[in-house]
Amino acid sequence: MVLVSAKEMVAKAHEGHYAIPAFNTNNLEWTKCILAAVEKAKSPVIIQTSESAAKYMGGYKMVVDMVRDLHDAMGITVPVALHLDHGSYEGAKACIEVGYTSVMFDGSHFDFAENVEKSKEIIALAHSVGVSVECEVGGIGGTEDGVTSNGELADPKECAEIAALGVDFLAAGIGNIHGKYPANWAGLNFDRLNEINEAVNGKPLVLHGGSGIPFEQTSKAITMGVSKINVNTELQLVFADATRKYIEAGKDIEGKGYDPRKLLKPGCDAIIAKAVELCEAFGSANKA
Ligand code: 13P
Repeated sequence: MVLVSAKEMVAKAHEGHYAIPAFNTNNLEWTKCILAAVEKAKSPVIIQTSESAAKYMGGYKMVVDMVRDLHDAMGITVPVALHLDHGSYEGAKACIEVGYTSVMFDGSHFDFAENVEKSKEIIALAHSVGVSVECEVGGIGGTEDGVTSNGELADPKECAEIAALGVDFLAAGIGNIHGKYPANWAGLNFDRLNEINEAVNGKPLVLHGGSGIPFEQTSKAITMGVSKINVNTELQLVFADATRKYIEAGKDIEGKGYDPRKLLKPGCDAIIAKAVELCEAFGSANKA
């Protein structure tokens, strides 16, 4: 075995000035492709699921079994953590119970006092069994699991307070958005990131909405304490694009091109190529 907590890999990335890619998985193919990519790139990885993606796949335990079994069957040698993304209080507890090695408790929509209380409880519970914890201050723009936030900038004082609870890494809104960035997006707010980084006393920070941010901006964010970068949409886009091209070229109706193993292969190859590129861009390649 196998799956590890994300604490140590993120702490090492923070010290070494690179970021761990946290790729969201949606199904068996995604999971296989992410694992194949990080093994190729020799990168540590966080594989994460939202609550709804886990439900789609058959539940948290099914996800744990799938990731563990693929990890072993593929002979993966790089460190792999399995993380709950944007977890509720109940979801985080359920994942800790069935074998996730890391959880995010997202209390950013509660009032701050309640966020602190619930974060504290999840941190104590997770740490008692060696599971790492991410908490969130301030919303991330866009829509995630049906919850839309307007992308407020996190308050550095609140970040300092949550960091002091002993959380392992902290998500803080700095103008980042889930999903595709609009053409008029203002970019990451580095002034705010700088203030947050100074306030949290060396706590690693998490950048959500990592899809489509220009690499100059992700690299600069890494120099300012970002050590985990979440990517979901970008792998979905390259998969959909490659699959569309395969079908538009009529390849699904040539021979046995409709066999799912053939139909899904161009999309899977595209996920692997993009994930390797992101490991290189985030500096985590060859750090396993
Ligand atoms: P994207 O879908 O924009 O890459 O965001 C992923 C994310 O932050 C998951 O929490």
